[in-house]
Amino acid sequence: MTIGVYSSRPDEREFIEKFSNVYETGIKMIHEDPVLETVEQAAGCDCISIITNTFITAEMLDRYKKLGVRFISTRTVGFEHIDVEHAKQIGIGVGNVTYTPDSVAEFAVMLMLMVLRNTKPIEARRAGQDYALTMVRGRLLSDMTVGIMGTGRIGVRVAEQLAGFGCRILAADSCRNEALSEIVQYVEPEILYRDSDIVTLHMPSNKENFHVIDSRVFEQMKTGAVLINTARGELVDTKALIEALESGKLGGAGLDVIEGDRLIYYRDLKCEIVPHHEMAILNFLPNVVITPHMAFYTDHSVSDMVENSIRSCAEYMKSNKFKF
Ligand code: COI
Repeated sequence: MTIGVYSSRPDEREFIEKFSNVYETGIKMIHEDPVLETVEQAAGCDCISIITNTFITAEMLDRYKKLGVRFISTRTVGFEHIDVEHAKQIGIGVGNVTYTPDSVAEFAVMLMLMVLRNTKPIEARRAGQDYALTMVRGRLLSDMTVGIMGTGRIGVRVAEQLAGFGCRILAADSCRNEALSEIVQYVEPEILYRDSDIVTLHMPSNKENFHVIDSRVFEQMKTGAVLINTARGELVDTKALIEALESGKLGGAGLDVIEGDRLIYYRDLKCEIVPHHEMAILNFLPNVVITPHMAFYTDHSVSDMVENSIRSCAEYMKSNKFKF
């Protein structure tokens, strides 16, 4: 069997070689992104492996089907960039991967600390030799109540890591994880928004939770609270976020993702005009730390992502099923 691997980065290639040997699969490297124009490059492939930078549309899926592609694996947790419904209708299997939740969980905790300890203004001022203590006094994470929205694999690790700091931890999820009962108090989202000093998002992006954090939620939050988003930009109404930050209702934000970041992040746009007004505003706010969707990016995760993508293709070809 052969897997067509789209959009691989140089740092993924040692793992592609390693795990294609382990799972005895052929590999066809397709150095471009999967778009309508590059579908035909998957000729001869039984499966394709992709990432999130382009949308796999119904038209593309029809063409992959004609080429004989049976399974599409995204080397990511999120799969909202694939028309899964259409794939199901035409009988193409779709699978995502899991990877160590610690990469994103540790990054979320790092963003909390960076916002609470004012690292952005400290660094900007240090660069200009302003070493004064004015306006950079921080807050202790251990003094905070942290509200975790979503206690899947990543949310659980955030809770466990925060427990080490001694925070009070609230969580909201329609599916409660009893294993967390010693360290987390489950509450309704309204209570979480009302009582948390930090709200951190760990849910998938889907139609139901598009802009789940909107002006109504910012209204309910504590004045001076901090929002952390390492999940998906679409969970937050960005205009409402900017209003809440500019009015002082929100005390800061740590954003590894922003709505509309898909066509911007992972590209070198130095000296170019980036078409994203909200991102430009957020970039300039001293209490907003922005990172370009890199929370996942550790050596451990990259190995997991490649291994699980190749493994799922190999398993699908054996059993015609996707199981994780
Ligand atoms: C995911 O795995 O869903 C991520 O967010 C990381 C990815 C975009 C590389």
